[in-house]
This record gives sequence, C-alpha cells and structure tokens, in this order.
Amino acid sequence: MEHVTYEGLTFEPYISKQDIKTRVEVLGKEITRDCAGKMPLFVCVLNGAFPFASDLFRAVDDPDAEITFIRLKSYEGTSTSGTVKEVIGLHENIEGRTVIIVEDIVDTGNTIYRLVNDLKEKNPADIKVATLLFKPDALVRNIKPDYVGFEIPTKFIIGYGLDINEKARNLNDIYILKEA
Ligand code: HPA
Ligand code: MG
Repeated sequence: MEHVTYEGLTFEPYISKQDIKTRVEVLGKEITRDCAGKMPLFVCVLNGAFPFASDLFRAVDDPDAEITFIRLKSYEGTSTSGTVKEVIGLHENIEGRTVIIVEDIVDTGNTIYRLVNDLKEKNPADIKVATLLFKPDALVRNIKPDYVGFEIPTKFIIGYGLDINEKARNLNDIYILKEA
C-alpha cells in the first residue's frame, strides 16, 4: 500500500482491508452468539459507519436481524466541533428491542453518549454499541463500547467510511495522518 494525499495532508497505510475483514468477521460471530433469539436491530450511524455496518451486518448469522439508518453530524475537518446534531431520525419503534448502534469511530464519545441517551428514552430492552475504531485516550464521556474493532491512538485517520471533509470514505484500507 502506498500513501495517499487529501487536502494537502499525507496519510500512511494503517489497517489493511484484509485485517478489517478478519476482525469484522470475529465481531459478527460475537454478536451472533450474544444476540441469539433477540431479533437485534442494527442502527447504522451515517455517513461514516456505512461500510462497517454493511460488512458487520452480513457477518451476523441471524435471520431475525434487522438494520436501519440514522444520520448525525458532529465533526468538521480534523478537529471536533463538540456539537452533535440529529439530521435524520429513527423511524422504527425500538421499545423492548435489542438495539446495536453501529459507529465508525468512538473518539471523544460525545456523539455516542448523546445518541445512547436519546435512544434510551424510547425504552429499548438493551442498547449495545459496536464501533470499528475506538480512541480510548480521547474519551471524555463515561461510555464503553461493547464491540470494538480496533483500539487506536488519538490520531486522525481516514478510509473505510471515515472522512476528511467528506472525502476518502471510499478507501478500502484505513490510513493515518503522517506526522509533520
Ligand atoms: N477521522 C475521521 N473522522 C473522525 C475521526 C478521525 O480520526 N475521529 C472522529 N471522527
Ligand atoms: Mg467525519
């Protein structure tokens, strides 16, 4: 893999698509086991989680699993704006259901914290969080994702759904910002 350039910044290969695939399949098996008989509803947080949700959902071997989509916005460029705003809401009735929120990344935790609290008000049986990436050192909220693909340092990454100003989501591998 070669480096890529976006917005004049250089990014180096960090997690290969093969490593992503292998890890997502393991998470799919764990969720299949943990949610057997629970008719889990996956809630994919757009835009970033769409490749992960697509692969994770198909790695879950459960004929009763369902998926839906929600859209939030909280991040601009390479620094957090600190605000979380719901853009497209959830239309499903989640009362009594096992909900698995699917995120691309848990960074400060602000987005997921706000989303979990919003969804709790709709009385689901259980809310679990599956995130492809987790930056534990960036966390400012008391929240722990249930399923984590990879724990990573507090550095800016792109690819496989993760963007820089909406670009780079279509990279198959994950790249990390090269230090100057
Ligand atoms: N890259 C892209 N989007 C993000 C990141 C990141 O490292 N952290 C939170 N949103
Ligand atoms: Mg983003």
